[in-house]
Amino acid sequence: MKEHLIIIFGGSGDLASRKLIPALYSLHQRKKELVPFKIVAVGRTSFSNDSFREHIIEKGEYSNKEFFNSLFYLQMDPSVKGDYSKLIEKLKEFESSDYLFYLATPPSLYESIPTNLKLCGLNKEEGESSKIKPGVRKIIVEKPFGYDLESAIKMNSTLRGSFNENQIFRIDHYLGKETVQNILALRFANTIFEPIWNRNYIERVEITAVENMGIGSRGSFYDGVGALRDMVQNHLIQLLALVAMEPPVTYGEKEFRDEVVKVYSSLKPLTKEEIPSRVVRGQYIAGEKKGEMALAYRQEKGVKSNSQTETFLAMQVKIANWRWEGVPFYIRTGKQMPTKVTEIVIHFRDTPHRLFSSREECPDHNQLIIRIQPNEGMVLKFDMKIPGSGFDINQVPMDFTYDKLGEVNSADGYSRLLEEALKGDNTLFTRSDAVEASWRYFSPVLQYFKEESQLPLHGYPAGSWGPLESEAIITNGHRWSNPCKNLTNTDIYCEL
Ligand code: BG6
Repeated sequence: MKEHLIIIFGGSGDLASRKLIPALYSLHQRKKELVPFKIVAVGRTSFSNDSFREHIIEKGEYSNKEFFNSLFYLQMDPSVKGDYSKLIEKLKEFESSDYLFYLATPPSLYESIPTNLKLCGLNKEEGESSKIKPGVRKIIVEKPFGYDLESAIKMNSTLRGSFNENQIFRIDHYLGKETVQNILALRFANTIFEPIWNRNYIERVEITAVENMGIGSRGSFYDGVGALRDMVQNHLIQLLALVAMEPPVTYGEKEFRDEVVKVYSSLKPLTKEEIPSRVVRGQYIAGEKKGEMALAYRQEKGVKSNSQTETFLAMQVKIANWRWEGVPFYIRTGKQMPTKVTEIVIHFRDTPHRLFSSREECPDHNQLIIRIQPNEGMVLKFDMKIPGSGFDINQVPMDFTYDKLGEVNSADGYSRLLEEALKGDNTLFTRSDAVEASWRYFSPVLQYFKEESQLPLHGYPAGSWGPLESEAIITNGHRWSNPCKNLTNTDIYCEL
């Protein structure tokens, strides 16, 4: 296998030291059947190879230092066209001429880097004169893939002005998670679920991805983004697509990604009249967490003191197709919640006829819970007769924890995705038409947030399950299933 050079723009930044280099380290440790690689981290900060290696070592846990012989640093400003001659010179030091560029920079550079790569000829696989050798060229782009539909279209066209679609890898790290991929295996490697995976048997679906941390040091970035752009438009809707998609003809790049696009294109657009009853926004206010007071969002560094950015979002989404007509999908995400958990709950319909009167005491019917993280696994809940006289029914869980299959790579998906990109397999990456189809659904909602100031931004205390108003988007008297049984809803809610 030919060696690749991974060139990380934004190499001295947080994403590179916290996620990418650790993920590459874990790939390097596995070695087997892997495309070999070396890394050139590129950044504006001044480092030598050695001081950069020390900087990375300080920030992580690396028992095997051999990896660091493959890590190099180049100081340059990627927004300046003239600096690319330094990159070309640096690349000459390596035997390999297969390049994987990684944009781990602020989105403001997403236009200039691909354009500059094109201007200096580094995008061309056939190479350019004696300065640049021929080889494979690929580019990985981090989200956000645009800010709204218009900017997403512009970003796609910039990227495609320099690279072909099959050279572009738009990374959504949720697709790299084992348990997310396992949704496909659950649905399409078994016969028992698929016949009932539709509107006739499923009453509603809940998708929750919440975190127990605030926005930390990312205040100035997050305040211009908010929960919808940060989590919903990409990670949550991707989870929804895997639950809702039709079986692809094969597990191939085109076939799989075509089905994702079909789901996004079937999302029923929300009218202005529907948005207030189907979308709830919240922002955390100060609250007690494990005996300590947590700051309000507006007190966080980099956040405006009158910020209207949501840190919580709950939405009722509908899919207009034969399989899902009439089945609500409830999705929610939030910062500063009681715990960090990502979970999908499939609620099946009630039995057509009730034989057992005690059944009415059971609030929910059959459920399949897919725990994405932590404690990766699945639980199927069903009713059984309690031993003894009479016919008292109780709900029992049948559970499977993912670690029974072997060691779970509970890392956040980056290493799996980097491995796929090295191999040149785009299946688990987002295609340009999927990005645009998703924005086509969400852009009007964002527009509504901007224009219709009457859509409330509810305050919720840090450490709670979000605004009580989020219960109102769930119809038919149901409630959100809060994943940790020992954590109860707090009743302190207020409006900002
Ligand atoms: C990122 C968001 O994409 O996903 C972060 O920008 C969020 O705000 C993170 O914290 C959550 O990822 P995970 O893998 O920890 O659930």
